[in-house]
Amino acid sequence: MPRGVFITLEGLDGSGKTTQIKRLAAWLTRRGMEPVVLRQPGGTASGDRIREILLDSRSAAVAPMTEMALMFADRAQAIAEVIQPALDAGKIVVCDRFTDSTEAYQGGGRQIGSEVVLDLHRLICGGLEPNLTLLLLPSFQVSLARARHRNVRVEAETGKDENRFESEKDAFYRRVWEKYHEIARREPDRVVLIEGDLSIDEVHEQIIESVAERLVTAQPIR
Ligand code: TYD
Repeated sequence: MPRGVFITLEGLDGSGKTTQIKRLAAWLTRRGMEPVVLRQPGGTASGDRIREILLDSRSAAVAPMTEMALMFADRAQAIAEVIQPALDAGKIVVCDRFTDSTEAYQGGGRQIGSEVVLDLHRLICGGLEPNLTLLLLPSFQVSLARARHRNVRVEAETGKDENRFESEKDAFYRRVWEKYHEIARREPDRVVLIEGDLSIDEVHEQIIESVAERLVTAQPIR
């Protein structure tokens, strides 16, 4: 059993995860708990290479099963190289996306279904479950508008094209959205759903409230 605490953040593209992760990490650091922060896909040297294949819109021909397999390949490496060693050392790990993303995007969005994703999770991730998952779901239209705007900006600034997912049609994101809700209903103990168009401060408050509660009940932090 891991002794650390594993926290994941989930949500649609443009849900504000990145901002919230930075604030959560700063909050933990101020309290003397140096969190290990990583994102998926990515977070390891090979994971970053997998990320490029996955997110570059020029790889648009990637089949749904390939996409799912690459997500798990990336995750397996992140678990082996970063997540498990950190948990074993009693640290707090904050991960930007984990298997819920695969269930929502590939299972829901690409219509592969939940079962195969959960089976692969058990097989490849050894059933490693987050202690707490913060699921940010501002309104559908707001998330989508933000994600599209952000990608135009990032490409202009860095020349990096990470547009592949954001150029998906609204129907794809509807399915992702619904699958996220399904996961939240199925696992209410693990998943804290933060809904609605709240301010950055309001979301942060809700996040730290849930995290503080979980740190007390989880008890493995030394
Ligand atoms: P990223 O730029 O990190 O987006 P965000 O900041 O919104 O998290 O891109 C990650 C993209 O990859 C995002 O569109 C969701 C998608 N994704 C999956 O489809 N399946 C997965 O298992 C993961 C981890 C991500």
